[in-house]
Amino acid sequence: MLRCDELGAISDEPGRLTRTFASPAMRRANKLVGSWMRKAGLQVREDAAFNLLGRRNSERRGAKTFLLGSHLDTVRDAGNYDGPLGVLTAIATVQLLRERGVKLPFNLEVAGFSDEEGVRYHTTCLGSRALAGTLTAADLARIKEKQIVKARRRQGEFLGYAEVHIEQGPVLEKNNVPVGVVTAIAGQSRLCVEFHGVAGHAGTVPMNLRHDALAGAAELVLAAGCCGALATVGKLEVAPGASNVIPGHAALTLDVRDQNDPRRLAAVRLLHAKAKIIARRRGLKLTWTPVQQTSAVQCDKALTRIFSRCIAQRGLEVLKLTSGAGHDAAALAAICPVAMLFVRCKGGISHNPAESVNTTDIAPAIDVLADFIQTLATRHA
Ligand code: GLV
Ligand code: MN
Ligand code: MN
Repeated sequence: MLRCDELGAISDEPGRLTRTFASPAMRRANKLVGSWMRKAGLQVREDAAFNLLGRRNSERRGAKTFLLGSHLDTVRDAGNYDGPLGVLTAIATVQLLRERGVKLPFNLEVAGFSDEEGVRYHTTCLGSRALAGTLTAADLARIKEKQIVKARRRQGEFLGYAEVHIEQGPVLEKNNVPVGVVTAIAGQSRLCVEFHGVAGHAGTVPMNLRHDALAGAAELVLAAGCCGALATVGKLEVAPGASNVIPGHAALTLDVRDQNDPRRLAAVRLLHAKAKIIARRRGLKLTWTPVQQTSAVQCDKALTRIFSRCIAQRGLEVLKLTSGAGHDAAALAAICPVAMLFVRCKGGISHNPAESVNTTDIAPAIDVLADFIQTLATRHA
């Protein structure tokens, strides 16, 4: 918990926590977390995608690697736990296994991924997708740091990936349990939408003769509220942006999610159709740019069963839940089986500086993750 606080003070902005992909704060965070990884006996490096990687090799020759981790980037004005908790519990788990003198038949690697939130480029999981080798040409066209493709790892290298993460919702708290097992991760569509109108004088152009880009955008924001999926406009920019000028341009981000892919895609199609109608009616030009699509991901049944068993063996209730939030695990699912363990968070609050976890819930998370690795070790012995 002290490490979460210390890391939470490393920010790109004064007075609040914001740490984005490849930023100066991220470089400082990687340095600090790297020093903790070394203390746990890991060999540390940063890959071409700014992912921080700590590794302990197995004595077994030609062994594959099991990957643990989460992300070190944050949203704007973030809490201390979304991402870092998973990286720091993974390091603590490695430390615990070392104290227990556990030898493993596989290499163990801990990743602090560089971009799960996608704040910098509005695309998620640049770090973990670079490692998985699933970046698209469209991703690379958007970003400056083209070298991140070099972070791609060898096909078949990983036995699996497990991620601890705060739940970011209220289910575990409602059920009074410290940890839960994730069965699936919702799919996401991210889009950029622009309405191009005509800037004009706020005092002279009659209401019925305006081409107000913001008024069009506002209609779309409201339409998002009833599109049949979870939809969010999290960013809206208006130009030229003066109180006495009719907005000539409005750009907004659209984030649409659902556990069910066809339902998510239908919601996006519905919003596109509505945006076209709004634009036509108001005499605006519409630009509709899909930025990223990720399908819903099922967690691996065998790994999930091991998590469940480890939780039960600790005398805790086994609660299974799905994740509406995106995670690096969804990116890793392209190359290996994945599993996730959620930790209860206070009031279900996340993406907010008030994000909080109970100190007493961290020990069970570390114990369960260590038991999980030891169970895997016996299976691969
Ligand atoms: C990450 O937290 C996301 O789900 O957007
Ligand atoms: Mn996260
Ligand atoms: Mn997040």
